[in-house]
Amino acid sequence: MSPSPIAKLPVEKITVFDAEGEMLRLADAIAEADRRYHQEDAPELTDAEYDALRRRYERLAERFPQMRPENGPETQVGFAPAEGFAKVRHARPMLSLSNAFDDDDVREFDKRVRRFLSLGAEDPLELVAEPKIDGLSASLRYERGKLVVGATRGDGTEGEDITRNLRTINDIPTKLPEGVPEILEIRGEVYMRKDDFLAMNARQADSGGKLFANPRNAAAGSLRQLDVEITRSRPLKFFAYSWGEISEDFADSQWGFLEQIERWGFTTNPLSKLCASVEQALAVYAQVGAERGDLPYDIDGVVYKVNRFDYQQRLGMVSRAPRWATAHKFKAEQAETTLEAIDIQVGRTGALTPVARLTPVKVGGVTVSNATLHNEDEIARKDIRVGDQVIIQRAGDVIPQVVRVVTEKRPADSVPFEMPIKCPRCESDALRPEGEAIRRCTGGLICPAQAVERLKHFVSRNAFDIEGFGTKQVEVFWEEGLVRSPGDIFRLSEHREKLLGEKGTKEKSTDNLLAAIEARRTIGLDRFIFALGIRQVGQATARLLAANYGTLDALRAALDTAHDPDSDATADLINIDQIGSSVAKDLIDFFHEDHNRAVLDDLSQELDIQAFEAPTTEGSPVAGKTVVFTGTLTTVGRNEAKAKAESLGAKVAGSVSKKTDYVVVGADAGSKAAKAEALGVTILSEDAWLDLIRDG
Ligand code: IVH
Repeated sequence: MSPSPIAKLPVEKITVFDAEGEMLRLADAIAEADRRYHQEDAPELTDAEYDALRRRYERLAERFPQMRPENGPETQVGFAPAEGFAKVRHARPMLSLSNAFDDDDVREFDKRVRRFLSLGAEDPLELVAEPKIDGLSASLRYERGKLVVGATRGDGTEGEDITRNLRTINDIPTKLPEGVPEILEIRGEVYMRKDDFLAMNARQADSGGKLFANPRNAAAGSLRQLDVEITRSRPLKFFAYSWGEISEDFADSQWGFLEQIERWGFTTNPLSKLCASVEQALAVYAQVGAERGDLPYDIDGVVYKVNRFDYQQRLGMVSRAPRWATAHKFKAEQAETTLEAIDIQVGRTGALTPVARLTPVKVGGVTVSNATLHNEDEIARKDIRVGDQVIIQRAGDVIPQVVRVVTEKRPADSVPFEMPIKCPRCESDALRPEGEAIRRCTGGLICPAQAVERLKHFVSRNAFDIEGFGTKQVEVFWEEGLVRSPGDIFRLSEHREKLLGEKGTKEKSTDNLLAAIEARRTIGLDRFIFALGIRQVGQATARLLAANYGTLDALRAALDTAHDPDSDATADLINIDQIGSSVAKDLIDFFHEDHNRAVLDDLSQELDIQAFEAPTTEGSPVAGKTVVFTGTLTTVGRNEAKAKAESLGAKVAGSVSKKTDYVVVGADAGSKAAKAEALGVTILSEDAWLDLIRDG
C-alpha cells in the first residue's frame, strides 16, 4: 500500500510550503480513485474514504487557491466512462508553463532568457504578452486543410479523442483555406463566457440538471460528453495561441504566427500585445489585470512568450515546460462588502451549514451575495460577526469565500456569532458529536428541510434522474403539498389538473414531466439504493449492496435480521469487502426505522425495481462464489486480484466464514488460512487460483 495522501495536520495548521505537495498527492489519489470507479468499476476506496480525500483537498484548495494543481480534481468534471473516448498520442507533447507570482519573478525570467541566449541587458528581446484563458486546452490537427483529429491535453503526451465534440464549436474551423501546410496542429483554449455560463446554469437549474461551479468546469463538463448533441447545445468558444506538429514553417515569431492563423480563420485573443521589453510586458499585465473583472471570460494571468522562434528553438524546455515562456498569475479577485446575516442551511443528513448573506458586490465581473462559511469552527477562527465588513474572494468559483474581517471597521456593538443549538427549521436539538466539525439536526424525519433535501437527492442525476424534475420542482411540489414522500412522485399524475395551472396552460410541460416520471418507474436496484440517501452509502456502496443481495426483498430481509448483532446476517454484511461496521450500522438503522420502512413499502408498490444484473460471467468457474484473499500475492497485487475475481462474478469477502467457497493464500498467510482449514473451506494456492480462473 502507498502511504495515505492525507497528512495528519489539521488544514488550519498547514503552511503554504506543505500545501502544494499534499494537494498534488491528493489530486493524484482522487484521480486514481475516479479512474478505478468510473472506468474499471473496481473502486479501491470506500465512499467514506473517497469523500475524506475530496473534503481534505477542497479545504486545502480553499485555503490555498493559488496552489491548485493545473489538472486538479475541480477540472475533472464528467469523467469518461469505460467505453469513453479513444486515446490520442500527441505528435508533439502539450507542454505546461512555469509560474511567476510577482513582477520581480518576471524580470528574473527575462534575465534568465538573456543569460541563456548570451544577450546583454540592452539587446532587444521582444515578448508577446497574452491573457491566460481559464479554460481547458485542446489540440486540433489539420491534414490538407481538413480538421482530422481534435484532442484534450490529457497528461500532455496522450489525450482523448474529442474530434466530434470540437467540431461543434463555431470558433473552430473544420476546413482551412488553400495554402496552409499539409500538416498543421493548432492549439488553444476551449472556454465559456461568464454570461453564457450563468445563463446555462440557470437553465440547468430549471430542468433539474447538473450545476457547475465556474465557467471552466462548465466548459470541461460540456466538452467531454459522449453525446455530441449535448456539447453542441452548450455555448463553447475557442482562442488559438500555440501549435504542435507543422509540416512547413510559415512564421518566424509568435506574433507572426498569431497574425497568420487569424487570417486562416482562427480566433486569437484581441488583448495579446507584442512588447519591446519586459517592462512593457509588465504594463500589459497591469492593464489586463485592471480590466479583468469586466472581461466577458475568466482569465487567471498573463502568459509571456519570447517572440522570436529561433530564440525559442535555442531555449528549448525544462521538465515539460518551455524555457521561453512563463505564466504570470493574478491574485484571486477580492472585494469588500458587509455581512448582513448568517443563515443556517439544513442538508439531507441534517448537517447545519452557515451561509453568509452579503450586500451584493461585484467580484471578478460576477455579482455575489452569498458566501460559504463552512462550519462554526471556521467562523470562530476568523471571528466573523454579523455586521462586519468582510473581504471576500472568488477563486474562479461562483461561490466565494470570506477571507477575513476588516476588524478596524467593526461596529462597536457587535457580538461573536453563536451557532444555534436547535434546528432552525424544525426546532429539534442540533448536536455536535465529539471530534466532529459538523452540527446536525436530530429531527430526522420530522424535519422538513431534511425531507426536501432527501427528495432532491432522490431525483438527482445519479439516482432517479427524472428529466425536468430538479431542485426547483421539489421545492414547489413540497410547498403545495403534492410531494411529501418519494412515493408521491409516482402518484403525481393524479394531480394532473392542478399541475396544468390555473389557466390550464401548462399542458405540454406537465405531460412531459409525467411521461418522464413514468419512464423511471422501472429502475435498477443499485440506483434505487443510492437514491434512498442513506448516510455513507454512495454509488459504489449501493452497487456493492445490489451485487451482494440481488433484490430489494433480499436486502431488506438480510438487514432486518442483521438488527441482531450476533446474527449471521450481520457477519455477512460486514464481511462484504469494503463495508465496515460503521456503514453497516447506518444501513441497519435506516432499514429498521419505521418511517423508512413505510417509504420502502410504498415505493415497492409504485416501482418495478429490477434485480441486480451481475456482469455477464457465463462459463465463469467462480461466478456466485465467495472468495477471500489472504497473504501476499506474488503475480498481481491484492486489489487487482479482487477486481479480477469480481469481474468474473465472484464476491470478495474480507474474512473467512462457513459461507466462503475459496480462500486464496499467498505468502505469509496468517489466521485466515487456519480458520479456513478449521471450517473445511477449500484452500487454493495462488497458482491453483490462477489455474481455476484461466479455465473460465
Ligand atoms: S501556451 C508552451 N498560452 O495554460 C505552450 N497557454 O499552464 C503552453 N493557457 O495548458 C501553452 N492561455 O491550458 C498558452 N495564451 C496562452 C494560454 C495558455 C491559457 C493554459 C493552457 C495550458 C496552461 C499552461
